[in-house]
Amino acid sequence: MNDPILEIKNLNTCFDNGYSRIHAVNNVSFNVQRGEILGIVGESGSGKSVACLSVLRLVPRGGRIVGGEIIFDGEDLMKKSKREMRKYRGCRISMVLQNPLTSLNPVIRIGDQVSESLLLHSKEKRGRVMSKVVDLLKAVKIPSADMQVSQYPHQLSGGMRQRVVTSIAIGCEPELLIADESTTALDVTIQAQVLQLLRDLRRERGLSIILVTHNLGIVAGMCDRVIVMYAGQLLEIAATEELFANPCHPYTKGLLRSVPRLTNGKKRLISIPGQPPDMSRVPEGCPFWPRCEQSMDICKSENPPVSTAGSGHEVKCWLYAHETR
Ligand SMILES: Nc1ncnc2c1ncn2[C@@H]1O[C@H](COP(=O)(O)OP(=O)(O)OP(=O)(O)O)[C@@H](O)[C@H]1O
Ligand SMILES: [Mg+2]
Repeated sequence: MNDPILEIKNLNTCFDNGYSRIHAVNNVSFNVQRGEILGIVGESGSGKSVACLSVLRLVPRGGRIVGGEIIFDGEDLMKKSKREMRKYRGCRISMVLQNPLTSLNPVIRIGDQVSESLLLHSKEKRGRVMSKVVDLLKAVKIPSADMQVSQYPHQLSGGMRQRVVTSIAIGCEPELLIADESTTALDVTIQAQVLQLLRDLRRERGLSIILVTHNLGIVAGMCDRVIVMYAGQLLEIAATEELFANPCHPYTKGLLRSVPRLTNGKKRLISIPGQPPDMSRVPEGCPFWPRCEQSMDICKSENPPVSTAGSGHEVKCWLYAHETR
């Protein structure tokens, strides 16, 4: 079934610092199907957050989208005016940011923070908004929701604050939710509860979700498909089961090998040797070749094409490019 809510085509987002250009997102294409949870993984600095922010056209200062299409529900967001974009942000597409615990204002009561976005985006009447706020807090499973509206953020635990942030994000009933490392700062039990909440929202509201995470365990438990990013490029994409059973790119294999397993016994944890490249000096050819055990001469000079490794499984690596070579 091909029914995408979002299609990203050849997205390029760069930062210019006057001396050099950083390709934070380099020719990336992917789609998100309606009701799908799509995971994005990759080491720090690989372009996951910039790719997500580009979807909302909220690239940090100094950066800009220099090419590509962002098709949301059939409309190219790149062609929208600033005013039109406001109808999408926080309304049809919403985002839970990398550091949710700092997203709440410490001196404003929870109820007022949640109602603010409802009043702004959904034209809710001021008199009726508080009952909607309580409904929303109940939807994210905050106990005694009607009491919590008058609390300040510091009076809530980390997990509860995260639920409040999520309630703001789903308040206007978005079709797409982008959760960027939104559970990283939480302890594992709270993390599991928040992830269960996202799963419930998908089931109950048909929400599509982009889930950015470093944690491959979360990917395995949550995502339908996964994207692997490295140095701003998309190296592999596959259904989650397929990616875990049959990883193709040496980088993906390295990421999977570095996950601790009980069955490893006393074996040492294997990490990928070396460091991700300095983004202002990404090597020629495939960006991963200096760290790749299987690199060949061609990898050092030419960027590999995208090859098909199975149904819905694509990989950008010369080892799989026999037909296109
Ligand atoms: N505000 C900025 N100014 C200049 N360059 C930036 C800025 N934000 C990001 N970059 C560049 O874009 C690259 C990708 O950054 P991004 O934040 O998308 O990485 P990430 O994959 O989300 O990493 P992390 O896992 O640490 O969140 C960085 O390596 C950096 O070079
Ligand atoms: Mg990030």
